[in-house]
Amino acid sequence: MRISVIGCGYLGAVHAASMAKLGHEVVGIDVDQRKITELQAGRAPFFEPGLPELLTEVQETGRLKFSTSMADAEGAQVHFVCVGTPQRKGEYAADLTYVDSAFYELIPYLHEGDIAVGKSTVPVGTAARLADMVAAKAPGAVLAWNPEFLREGHAVKDTLTPDRFVYGVPAGENGARATAALDEVYATPLSNDTPRLVVDYATAELVKTAANSFLATKISFINAMAEVCEAAGADVSALADAIGMDERIGRKFLNAGVGFGGGCLPKDIRAFMARAGELGADQALTFLREVDAINMRRRSRVVELTRDLVGGSLIGKRITVLGAAFKPESDDVRDSPALSVAQQLQLQGATVTVTDPEALPNAKGRFPELSYEPDTKTALAKAHALVLLTEWKEYRELDPAAVANLVDEKKILDGRNVLDAAIWREAGWTYKGIGRP
Ligand code: UDX
Repeated sequence: MRISVIGCGYLGAVHAASMAKLGHEVVGIDVDQRKITELQAGRAPFFEPGLPELLTEVQETGRLKFSTSMADAEGAQVHFVCVGTPQRKGEYAADLTYVDSAFYELIPYLHEGDIAVGKSTVPVGTAARLADMVAAKAPGAVLAWNPEFLREGHAVKDTLTPDRFVYGVPAGENGARATAALDEVYATPLSNDTPRLVVDYATAELVKTAANSFLATKISFINAMAEVCEAAGADVSALADAIGMDERIGRKFLNAGVGFGGGCLPKDIRAFMARAGELGADQALTFLREVDAINMRRRSRVVELTRDLVGGSLIGKRITVLGAAFKPESDDVRDSPALSVAQQLQLQGATVTVTDPEALPNAKGRFPELSYEPDTKTALAKAHALVLLTEWKEYRELDPAAVANLVDEKKILDGRNVLDAAIWREAGWTYKGIGRP
């Protein structure tokens, strides 16, 4: 099939390359010339494992092109809109400027029989509104909503072998056409028995928001348990293992720590609350306010624990923060708990050095007031305490004996509960975890 992908960020660039991998002719379009230049040269404009190799592989086939001109979408049969829906400044609601303008600019190039597919995470009701716009201005085309569930760091795998496909389509003939087109796009994964659910627009939009709300709730639940464990002298990691063995609960997404961040979970739960308010259903989601509050409280708690670890005051203390990205295997620092903690530590008088294998260029752009050091060993030099906030493999595998002579004081706060406390203590370190005695 001929496919266009509008928006080449974390979602769109991976989607475009993956669709070409599935055998389609793809054009990726973005207004950002820098991104397009990188992609045209076969380079990923951000860190995502497997993406550079995939780009090289599919570009050699000639099936993947990139452009800054929306006119190049013309002639494609299926158009995926993959632009961002960030949180509006000073409000909970999502900013739909990019989605609205992507559709507005795409519509003149839609022809009879084309399918326009929204993949962005949007407030429920957006697809119905956009469908009216498509019907009025490009009556032969059909709108579908096909939410994306990929995780950064696993984006290529999640796109090529997803857990499920969800198609939000209109009723009747148009819905059947959109379903058939998406089935053709995803023929390869569908042939491997990937489940696919065909629903109405509103359900498709809500599936995505509900899934992210559930994941955020699971993380805040275990972080709330960590608070109780700390007060009671219990161990939240053992507790998570034990409750996670109940198949109804499951062990995944029960890792207590500094909480969730990134470009999705925090803003999605806030946008969901805002939308529920507009729909008169705000009471149904008041619990998400608590999910958000528990999550934000983790950051202050980690700062408090660091202060205790260095003897009650951060003034004049050299603290090395291990990790800047919101999670490992990503260079994304949007709403990163690590950087938020680093900033609070610095505000309280510490001299903070932040290190990260991939995210420092992005971190510098957002928090220019912090100090950064790419080399881990140099970053550890003369520290009074280490604070591990993003669980990159290289930090999980730090050898406590080997790094002991680099630091001034052997103190570590494991903000993700990923280190072996016994091994660190044996090597003479004061080890502190989250929700663990
Ligand atoms: C999330 C959803 O997982 C994905 O399905 C959706 O499409 C987009 O949002 P992503 O933001 O890439 O994906 O990362 P995810 O792996 O979900 O992690 C989100 C945050 O939660 C990270 O900051 C991570 O460190 C944190 N987290 C995750 C925990 O604190 N504990 C856990 O047990 C799991």
